[in-house]
Amino acid sequence: MVSYKDLGLVNTRDMFAKAIEGGYAIPAFNFNNMEQMQAIIQACVETSSPVILQVSSGARKYANQTILRYMAQGAVEYAKELGKNIPIVLHLDHGDSFELCKSCIEMGFSSVMIDGSSLPYDENVALTKKVVDFAHQYDVTVEGELGVLAGVEDEVSSEVSHYTSPDEVEDFVKKTGVDSLAISIGTSHGANKFKPEQCTRNADGILVPPPLRFDILKEIEKRIPGFPIVLHGSSSVPQDMVAIINKYGGALKDAVGIPEEQLREAAKSAVCKINIDSDGRLAMTAAVRETFATKPAEFDPRKYLGPAREWLKNLYMHKCKEVLGSAGKAE
Ligand code: G3H
Ligand code: 13P
Ligand code: ZN
Repeated sequence: MVSYKDLGLVNTRDMFAKAIEGGYAIPAFNFNNMEQMQAIIQACVETSSPVILQVSSGARKYANQTILRYMAQGAVEYAKELGKNIPIVLHLDHGDSFELCKSCIEMGFSSVMIDGSSLPYDENVALTKKVVDFAHQYDVTVEGELGVLAGVEDEVSSEVSHYTSPDEVEDFVKKTGVDSLAISIGTSHGANKFKPEQCTRNADGILVPPPLRFDILKEIEKRIPGFPIVLHGSSSVPQDMVAIINKYGGALKDAVGIPEEQLREAAKSAVCKINIDSDGRLAMTAAVRETFATKPAEFDPRKYLGPAREWLKNLYMHKCKEVLGSAGKAE
């Protein structure tokens, strides 16, 4: 058993309480390789932001669980070396079984998500409670989910979005003992969050998606006042990155994300964790494609992964400062 406390990590409890109180959200950035981890830590140290390092089950398979445990410990030490002991959480994203959550807890994760959102309500409650009962023995915090996001959530796939029912949240939180709740109010995973026919076009021809369902969020907040809420699928799909990718041979069509102003608005509420993966993928891909196209003689991986890391860092700094409001909150 590797305890996250021995790795220098923290769970989400204090972080979320402060974020709700302060009207900002903690960034949960997905990673699966060294450059992504370095960019996240550099950006969060430089902006003095608490951070959640997020690992999906696919990322865990890709990177290897033992390597990840040392990367997380390395991230803590790296932040200190860069000059700031920011709070860092290692979180399992979209855990789909008790066994996976247990295994992550035993390998140093300080927080896990059990995503039973595709199960019938009672089964979601039972599975989530089982994970909570195990995790809380080790002071590991647990995120549950109610409502289904459109798109693909790892193993959990859904063609349409089912918004979270405010009528269920109080009972779910009470019965399961979860520490935070992911909800569905119109976000979804990936770079193509909406079909073009769901959007309108602005004067520049950019697709504008329908607004998030803040009415549902408000109703949920009324039912469970002060309880930490999580937003998945919160990439904004920066159109400059999409344009660079497509300019240098990419084929991203109708990519559209969640407008940043709406995320900023959500961060002021009980939404205290905002998940961002796709935007990082876009920034990294744009940097690599541009380098390949403009410097075709380069074949040293550091010459294209270096710029990718720099672009990622800039993206993450922007998110902390301008979107989530977490900059300066690790002081
Ligand atoms: O919500 C899903 C995350 O973006 C992780 O994606 O399963 O491809 O690692 P992944
Ligand atoms: P995006 O695909 O919008 O980045 O969402 C990531 C996410 O929710 C990870 O759990
Ligand atoms: Zn997600």
